[in-house]
Amino acid sequence: MRERVLSGMRPTGALHLGHLLGALQNWVVLQGEYECYFMVADWHALMSEYEDPKEIRRNGEQMVIDWLACGIDPEKSVIFRQSDVPAHLELAFILGVLTPLPWLERNPTYKEQLRELATRHLTTYGFLGYPVLQAADILLYQATKVPIGVDQLPHLELAREIVRKFNSLYGKKLLEPEPLLTQIPKLSGIDGRKMSKSYDNAIALGDEPEAILKKSQRMFTDPLRIKFSDPGHPDQCNVYSYYKIFAPAKKEEVYDYCTNAKKGCTECKTNLGSVLLQFLEPIREKRNYWVNRQKKVTEIIEEGKRRARSVAEKSMSEIKELVGI
Ligand code: TRP
Ligand code: SF4
Repeated sequence: MRERVLSGMRPTGALHLGHLLGALQNWVVLQGEYECYFMVADWHALMSEYEDPKEIRRNGEQMVIDWLACGIDPEKSVIFRQSDVPAHLELAFILGVLTPLPWLERNPTYKEQLRELATRHLTTYGFLGYPVLQAADILLYQATKVPIGVDQLPHLELAREIVRKFNSLYGKKLLEPEPLLTQIPKLSGIDGRKMSKSYDNAIALGDEPEAILKKSQRMFTDPLRIKFSDPGHPDQCNVYSYYKIFAPAKKEEVYDYCTNAKKGCTECKTNLGSVLLQFLEPIREKRNYWVNRQKKVTEIIEEGKRRARSVAEKSMSEIKELVGI
């Protein structure tokens, strides 16, 4: 039997290049090796978006379209929505009663999010329990491998601690999940900060060609290269870091014309725009295919619900049996 993988994303807005490089490309590879469950984490989205949750459902559907466009294959993987499987909340409750508060309060990701999303009023009961629900997501499918970014490591460590406590209380049963960290090139947003929808610095997978070109033109460059005749420092230029990722064959050429002031930044950014257009073209095509087949997308999510439920319900009845409830 193949090991199981589970991962999820919160449907809080359009997916961008950061999601593709940081997660989706890896998910696509994992599909060949593992039995994969990819989850639209809509309850997790509600935790931060509860004041204005109207977009969560539509974002979830759009996110599945992005996944499909990037090569997540519903024949190989189970694509499902967390809220379609009630067992997630049931197990989160059971795990919640045995999770000591200090484990949650010391979580660095939680503290960072409180700071970053200060306007969202996240000092809530639900948000503190974010990693408890995440542990439930993983344990319901007995996933042994969880592909995540480093920011999610504390959550996975907590899931492991929760498993150990569960097992010691109720007799060993649940498996401890392990993180699958991917070696990913760091991709900044067009302003050099972390790529994020909330910074308005992201290139979305569904961006129109004109938007991609415009954003490329807006990218921050080497601040020391002011005039055309100033030699540039590619290693301090965000545009160059994009070349390294998306057009490695061109990087020597760019390095040369930049450091010798043979071409200007405007031209360099225009060329990068074409590189990104070409890179995203196949994704855009597949996206359009699915956008025009909304009914099929709904069917995929329905099928995911059926398959996820059957695994989750079985786990849930075993767990209830163990707990004695
Ligand atoms: N917390 C994850 C994130 O923000 C999303 C997520 C929810 C998740 N449940 C999960 C990831 C289970 C891995 C496993 O990125
Ligand atoms: Fe950056 Fe290109 Fe300008 Fe050099 S020429 S500073 S690599 S944008």
